Amino acid sequence: MKPNVDFTTKLAVLSHLSFAQHPKNMNSWIDQFEQHGWAEIKGFMNETDSAGIRSEIIEIQNNNGFRQASIGKQDSKSVDTSQRGDFIRWIDAQQAPNYTRLYLDKMTALIEQLNYTFYLGIRDYECHYAHYPPGTFYKKHVDRHKNGSPRRVSSVLYLNADWQPSDGGELVIYEPEGNEHRIQPLQGTLAIFLSELEHEVLLTSRDRMSITGWMLNETIL
Ligand code: OGA
Ligand code: MN
Repeated sequence: MKPNVDFTTKLAVLSHLSFAQHPKNMNSWIDQFEQHGWAEIKGFMNETDSAGIRSEIIEIQNNNGFRQASIGKQDSKSVDTSQRGDFIRWIDAQQAPNYTRLYLDKMTALIEQLNYTFYLGIRDYECHYAHYPPGTFYKKHVDRHKNGSPRRVSSVLYLNADWQPSDGGELVIYEPEGNEHRIQPLQGTLAIFLSELEHEVLLTSRDRMSITGWMLNETIL
């Protein structure tokens, strides 16, 4: 089941939280996002909270709660591990466990900041846990399909302690001008990028955990 975040109530409650208190940190990611259409926010979640989400993921996995992710839309969905090898579980905002709840609250504050700064008109957020087992990847793709997708901005929170460059698994974002930017899936890092930008997940040699989500310019029914 997908989440249905009630922004009107939450934004009021959260306007005092997190990013509003760190103007320096905030400006750098806002500037990055404005210049490139992506931002890499290190330390978005601290070690304790990242580890907390990881243990919530493991609990769900132990209850057989993950499914192999598919590609394509609605009636043309299919599993294709030559394109995408991750296992996912959609997060239900109403029933999110504690540390995941903390993450959702921080995202609500971040979305408020994005709306305020860039007039993006984001009205909702959907997300899932993702697990890439060793040997998997996600080939180059876009998250926003031309025919009316409400996805505006993609986000990925990485949850991997002690990640080494040799572990692979980087996110590569391709800018329209030809530059590419690589983000290591380090614990606590949040990547955000315009959903229309091409990107890929390079082959990982370790289990790679994350929460992947999309900011939508319409509400989920
Ligand atoms: C996706 C995706 C990127 C990542 O799930 O659509 O592009 O770094 N994920 O996990
Ligand atoms: Mn993607």
